[in-house]
Amino acid sequence: MSDENAVLRRLGVNVDHVATLRQARQARYPDPLAAALIAERAGAAQITVHIRGDRRHIQDHDIVRLAQSVQTALNVEAAATEEMAGILLRTLPHRVTLVAERPGEVTTEGGLDVAGQQADVARFCAQMHRAGIATSLFIDPEPEQIDASAMPGVDMVELNTARYAEARVGSAEAKAELERLARAASRAVASGLGVAAGHGLNLQNLRALVLAAPEIEEYNIGHALISDAVFLGLEASIRRYLELLA
Ligand code: PXP
Repeated sequence: MSDENAVLRRLGVNVDHVATLRQARQARYPDPLAAALIAERAGAAQITVHIRGDRRHIQDHDIVRLAQSVQTALNVEAAATEEMAGILLRTLPHRVTLVAERPGEVTTEGGLDVAGQQADVARFCAQMHRAGIATSLFIDPEPEQIDASAMPGVDMVELNTARYAEARVGSAEAKAELERLARAASRAVASGLGVAAGHGLNLQNLRALVLAAPEIEEYNIGHALISDAVFLGLEASIRRYLELLA
């Protein structure tokens, strides 16, 4: 494929772990906003952050500053709580991605059970839409979750790639997970939903997913990309991920 014809999927750079490093010292640096501006310069289409109930990395003031300064799009991952609704409505990011959050978990453990709480999710998304905030739901790549997500007020889903990422690259399990993600992406697109993916993606496992599931239009990547940046620098790390998305 020539460069002009290359399809470029969007890369959302998750800068949570820049804030993790800052919070480890309760210091003023490194600043996730500084990382976001570098990420945009390097070609990121979106900045993603997760504001957790326990504020272990991203803080309320980060959302305020990011919402004022991000030029591409700001995607805020949050649990569907009243507290988070207040923050979102005050700061007006481009998009909210609703996630399941269990107090004490090391990282997000699974997708949101939309099928089990469809009315609550619908209410939250309608509230966001009234304020002009686009909505996405972070779900496991299961048919019933996709079908439940296809409702008014929901713009897209983000497929949880954790199980794929945990499988050894090239293994039968990884292949099965790739097929599951590809089927889920097709089902979501057929239901009129946009499709993103994320969790545990890295330079080793990203390319196979891009090839297996062409309908995934956006990838949100944090832990591995920021880890690579420690050795490569942030711009160089982002460029490597962008090459795999082309
Ligand atoms: N997408 C969602 C919804 C997430 O919760 C996370 C983790 O915060 C990511 C993407 C990024 O995952 P990772 O840090 O493993 O790349």
